[in-house]
Amino acid sequence: METVTQTETSTSTAPEGAAIFKLSDASMSFGRVDALKNLNFGVLEGERIAVIGPSGAGKTTLFRMLAAVIKPTSGVVTAFGHDTRTLRGRVLRRLRSDIGILYQNDNLIQHLRVVHNVLMGKLGRWILPRALLSLFWPQDLNAAKKALGEVELQEKLWSMPGELSGGQQQRVAIARLMVQQPRVMLADEPVSQLDIRLGREIIELLSGVARRMNTTLMVNLHTLELLQGHFSRVIALREGAVFWQGTPREITREMLKDLYGAEYRAMHLDEVELDA
Ligand SMILES: Nc1ncnc2c1ncn2[C@@H]1O[C@H](COP(=O)(O)OP(=O)(O)O)[C@@H](O)[C@H]1O
Ligand SMILES: [Mg+2]
Repeated sequence: METVTQTETSTSTAPEGAAIFKLSDASMSFGRVDALKNLNFGVLEGERIAVIGPSGAGKTTLFRMLAAVIKPTSGVVTAFGHDTRTLRGRVLRRLRSDIGILYQNDNLIQHLRVVHNVLMGKLGRWILPRALLSLFWPQDLNAAKKALGEVELQEKLWSMPGELSGGQQQRVAIARLMVQQPRVMLADEPVSQLDIRLGREIIELLSGVARRMNTTLMVNLHTLELLQGHFSRVIALREGAVFWQGTPREITREMLKDLYGAEYRAMHLDEVELDA
């Protein structure tokens, strides 16, 4: 059995930066279910972190807690130095626009054209009249064009989301994040609905965007093939607790077997190349 390491990873791989998130004994219970148990770790500006672990480990709950969608039932979570339990009004709205979220699917509003979906990234910054006007006459068309160009979908500016493939829709969602310019991006299994090749493209795009914009990135991943080369740190959750932390290269097959238990075979982890 692997020992539980709650310590920070070696500082040689973690870039220096301001604290984006800090969890101090943070726990989250839903009735009798302890979804997260006494988490203690920090996330620094510029880090690119992958969160892994079997289903039910608490990965989605962790991301919702970091985004201040839910508050810890005990302990403290700070986002950009603010205790998320005390956030209200303008400060909470500001926080929301500083955190960009990418989901598994359904990232786009299906009855809005691609251009409007991309410009939704501005909503947190625009005052209401400008936001409403933008639905009729897109404000800042150039920002939308530029972001779509970066994900190689400029010709889809006026398309409806339904005309795009799943991979293209995820790229539009990434373009919206680029327009939003958040300080941190949280992506909850963004590639689990895509095949491995498309998944790799999306992860490369996301980590490339994070690097170029110097945005902190946290991705919750089920596909371990995508870890190498894109992340500075891996946090493994099991039964709501931090089971292991390290760099992608420090991952061993033994650790993965202990982490995933019965799921290990089903995930074909024996076929995963660990330090590709
Ligand atoms: N809103 C909720 N109400 C009750 N239980 C929940 C809720 N959200 C998550 N859980 C429970 O918390 C645990 C962790 O869930 P989740 O964060 O979705 O795990 P993961 O994303 O790693 O699969 C699971 O046991 C799940 O059933
Ligand atoms: Mg989940």
